[in-house]
Amino acid sequence: TGKVTLDPGFMNTASCESKITYIDGDAGILRYRGYPIEQLAAGSSFLEVAYLLLKGELPSAAEFEAFESRVNRHTFVHEDFRTFMGTFPRNGHPMAVLASAINALATFYPESLDPHDDDTVELATVLLLAKTRTITSYLHRRAAGEPLLYPDYSRGYVDDFLRMTFAVPYMAYESDPVVVKALDTLLILHADHEQNCSTSTVRMVGSSNANLYASVAAGVNALSGPSHGGANEAVLAMLTEIQAGGGDATEFMRRVKDKEDGVRLMGFGHRVYKNYDPRAAIVKDSAHEVLEALGVEDEMLDIAMKLEEIALNDDYFIERKLYPNVDFYTGLIYKAMGFSPQMFTPLFALGRMPGWIAQWREMMKDPAMKIGRPRQIYTGYTERDYVPVAQR
Ligand code: CMC
Repeated sequence: TGKVTLDPGFMNTASCESKITYIDGDAGILRYRGYPIEQLAAGSSFLEVAYLLLKGELPSAAEFEAFESRVNRHTFVHEDFRTFMGTFPRNGHPMAVLASAINALATFYPESLDPHDDDTVELATVLLLAKTRTITSYLHRRAAGEPLLYPDYSRGYVDDFLRMTFAVPYMAYESDPVVVKALDTLLILHADHEQNCSTSTVRMVGSSNANLYASVAAGVNALSGPSHGGANEAVLAMLTEIQAGGGDATEFMRRVKDKEDGVRLMGFGHRVYKNYDPRAAIVKDSAHEVLEALGVEDEMLDIAMKLEEIALNDDYFIERKLYPNVDFYTGLIYKAMGFSPQMFTPLFALGRMPGWIAQWREMMKDPAMKIGRPRQIYTGYTERDYVPVAQR
């Protein structure tokens, strides 16, 4: 196999060149198109960041208005699509429904499938940004047996998402500005993260010239795993378990360090960040702000802070350079906002959507694009003769 190098988990293999997101894992730096994440989180909006990731530049006021209005005009879903979503078991995991729903968009919009026609790709992009918001709000409502609420064009992307998710039908709904800002910020923080597992999956699927929906649906599935986006739900399950057991953070940490039953401190550690995850710092501040503004007192926040404090002062975590990642505190914010734990990872997917699409589009325009096809190092039998069943 001469030139083939073994690199499990692609620890040291760059799969592409990209101009979208810059991470310096040692310095704890994250930038989208050169703009520091802290500045975008403070000053921008999710839809503006989506535009930035997709097009490479911040929009002028007129460009943003045109983009927002185009996305808004596509937020309704076809009645047959609503029926289709209604056929999944109500207690089925929403990530499975989300991946299926995104895949199914290809059947509802066959005119938007050509991966190499600019107008078609732009249409598919807008459809995905618009429909995923509606689908995500419906995922929440379906679980409670509530009807889908229709979009309201006059409201902003996040504001109307909250209304569609939480409003009582036919009743006025006023979203809390603190909650709107916090969710906008969380979506911005999740919007892209270069060649992570789900984004690499989106690129891999797209590299066969599969359409955008097929590629992104695969990304949703990759995100669902607890080592990736599923960690935000797993953090809450972990905190719930610790709380139910009497809140003993020290005992839980002993189990983690002894690697008892493979238990890990969920929401900790990162392949690239070996100093701190700059997103986690913003999320932690936001958790305190949101819980305070909503008047929520959650013992789980105290447990989480205790776990973090123990970890940051413990040799096991120090030696391995394990710090809180973006998923550590997000669940507590989503919970305070009224989302169930199963909705946490779909919210991550809603945030990551512009990044997946931007990376897919960049790849499709890359003259160096090739079908993704890693090699292997074969370690099986060399050659042996077939033995008929009677002689085995
Ligand atoms: N708790 C306890 N030990 C850990 C943890 C953790 N969360 N993460 C890594 N380690 C240990 C691991 O056991 C190994 O120790 P040793 O050298 O003794 O075998 C060492 O640290 C290196 O771990 P690794 O699994 O080889 O590192 P990786 O870069 O392959 O994995 C990771 C990165 C994020 C999958 C991992 O840190 C992890 O499983 N974290 C928990 C899940 C999580 O929070 N995922 C979210 C990631 S961030 C955003 C996202 O994608 O959602």
